[in-house]
Amino acid sequence: MSETKKTDAADAVVPQQAAAAEDRADVTPEGRADRAKGSDDREVLLRVQGLQKHFPIRKGVLQRQVAAVKAVDGIDFEVRKGETLGVVGESGCGKSTMGRVITRLQDPTGGTIEFEGKDITSLSAGKLRPLRRDIQMIFQDPYGSLNPRHTIGSIVSAPFRLQGVEPEGGVKKEVQRLLELVGLSPEHYNRYPHEFSGGQRQRIGIARALALKPKLVVADEPVSALDVSIQAQVVNLMDDLQSELGLTYVIIAHDLSVVRHVSDRIAVMYLGKIVELADRTSLYEAPMHPYTKALMSAVPVPDPKRRGTKSERILLRGDVPSPISPPSGCRFHTRCWKATEICKTAEPPLLELKPGQQVACHHPENAEDQAPQDTVLLSVAKAAVELVTSEETPAETEGSAEVEEAEAEAAAVAEADAPEAEVEAEVEDAEASGEAEADESEAAAEGDEPEASGEAEAAKPEASAEAETAAEADEPEADRQKSTGK
Ligand SMILES: Nc1ncnc2c1ncn2[C@@H]1O[C@H](COP(=O)(O)OP(=O)(O)OP(=O)(O)O)[C@@H](O)[C@H]1O
Ligand code: SF4
Ligand SMILES: [Mg+2]
Repeated sequence: MSETKKTDAADAVVPQQAAAAEDRADVTPEGRADRAKGSDDREVLLRVQGLQKHFPIRKGVLQRQVAAVKAVDGIDFEVRKGETLGVVGESGCGKSTMGRVITRLQDPTGGTIEFEGKDITSLSAGKLRPLRRDIQMIFQDPYGSLNPRHTIGSIVSAPFRLQGVEPEGGVKKEVQRLLELVGLSPEHYNRYPHEFSGGQRQRIGIARALALKPKLVVADEPVSALDVSIQAQVVNLMDDLQSELGLTYVIIAHDLSVVRHVSDRIAVMYLGKIVELADRTSLYEAPMHPYTKALMSAVPVPDPKRRGTKSERILLRGDVPSPISPPSGCRFHTRCWKATEICKTAEPPLLELKPGQQVACHHPENAEDQAPQDTVLLSVAKAAVELVTSEETPAETEGSAEVEEAEAEAAAVAEADAPEAEVEAEVEDAEASGEAEADESEAAAEGDEPEASGEAEAAKPEASAEAETAAEADEPEADRQKSTGK
C-alpha cells in the first residue's frame, strides 16, 4: 500500500486528497442536510439523559474523597439510526469520557443511557456482554491500540474469540473480508502492526471495530493522530462504510474541520456540558452559542473565494477553568465577551431556540436574547476576546485551490502542535497539552495497566469491562507497556 510511504509521499498526495475530501464535501452538504432534517423521523438508537461522570479525588491515609473531577456533568442527547453525531470541544471538556460512558466502558455517576429503547445504565458485566457486539469504539491512537506482538489476523479476529462467535466461512475468511472492506489486502493477515503506517493501522482498528457488525460505533478522535493527507482517506472510508453497512456513528474530534464533513448533527461541549447541539448546516451557518462561534472562527476556512478579503477571527483569552470546581452559572462566563450578571448566577438550560438547534445561553447569537433585561457586561467580558482582522493572502497561482486548501488544513494541524500559541479557541493547542492525560485515560479505558495517578483511580473498577470491548488490546497492551518500560 502506498500509505507505508506516507511521510515521503505526503507532500505529493496532499492536494489530490484534500481535493477529494473537498469534492465529497461539495457533494455531501445537501445529502447531509437532508439526512439531518430527515433524522427526526428515524428511530432513536441511543438516548442519553442527565449523564454524569465524576472522578473522585482522594487524599490522605484513609483515601477520603475530597473533591471530584466533573468530567461529564449532566448531558442529554439522542443518536438516531444511521446518523453521525459529531462531538467537539476543547481538550479536557469531557468528550472521551462521554464516549467511554455511553459505550459502558466506564460506569456513569448519574443519568441514564438507553440503547434501542433499553436502559443499559447499570447493566452488570455479564449482561453487558451481548451489548459489546452492538456498540464498538475506535480509539485515537492507532499505534497504542494495536498489540505489536499480535498479527493483524489475530487482532481483527479477537472480537470473534471474545464473543465466541464463529462467522460463516470461518474466522480467517471473515477477517480477510474485513481487511478488504477497509482497503487493506487479505494478505496482510499474517503481518504485524509495525509493518503498517498510521493510516493503515487505523484501518485495522476500524476492521476490528466492525468485526461483529456493530450498530453503533463511537470513534474517539479517529484521525487526529494521522498525517493530514491520510486523515481524508480514513474519514472517507468511515463515511463509505456507514452507507454500506448502515452504521450509526458518534465521532469525537477537537478539529471542527473533521466533523464538519461527516456529521449530520454536531454537539459542542464545554467543561462537561453540551452548550449547543444542532444540525451541521445551522451550526456552521448561524452558530448560537458564543463558544461555538469562537470555535468556528478559529478554524481556517479553506475557501478560495475569500482570498484577498478581510476576515475577523475571535481569539478566546484565558484558560479553560478546572472541571473540579467549574464556574457558577454559565460555565463559559469567565471567558465570554457577552457575559452579564445573570450568566454568573443562573445556569442557562439547553433550549431549542430554532428547529433542530438547541443552545444553552442567556444571550445567544443569531436568536432572540433570553435575558434582554440584563445588559451590563461583566468586567471579564470586556477582556475575554480579541478580534483579529486578517487579510487573506491572494492566490498566487491559477488553479491552486486544492493546494491552498491542503495548506489551510495543515496550518490547523500545525497550530495543534504549538502548545503555547495564543488561544485560538484553544481547540487545537489545548490538545497538545492534554495529550498525556488523554493517553493515560485511554490506556485506562483499554484496561491495560494500573493507573499511575491517584486521579485515575476511579477507572479501576471498570477495567475488566473495558478490556472486554477493547478487544485484544487488554493484557497484551500491558505487556507492551512493560516491555517498552512505560
Ligand atoms: N480516569 C480518570 N480519572 C480522573 N480524571 C479523569 C479521568 N479520565 C478523565 N479525567 C478528567 O476528566 C476531564 C475530561 O477528560 P476527557 O479525556 O474526557 O476530555 P477530552 O475532552 O476527551 O479531552 P481531549 O481533547 O484532550 O482528549 C479531564 O479533566 C480529565 O483530567
Ligand atoms: S452570554 Fe452568558 S450564558 Fe451565553 S455563553 Fe456567554 S456567559 Fe454563557
Ligand atoms: Mg479525548
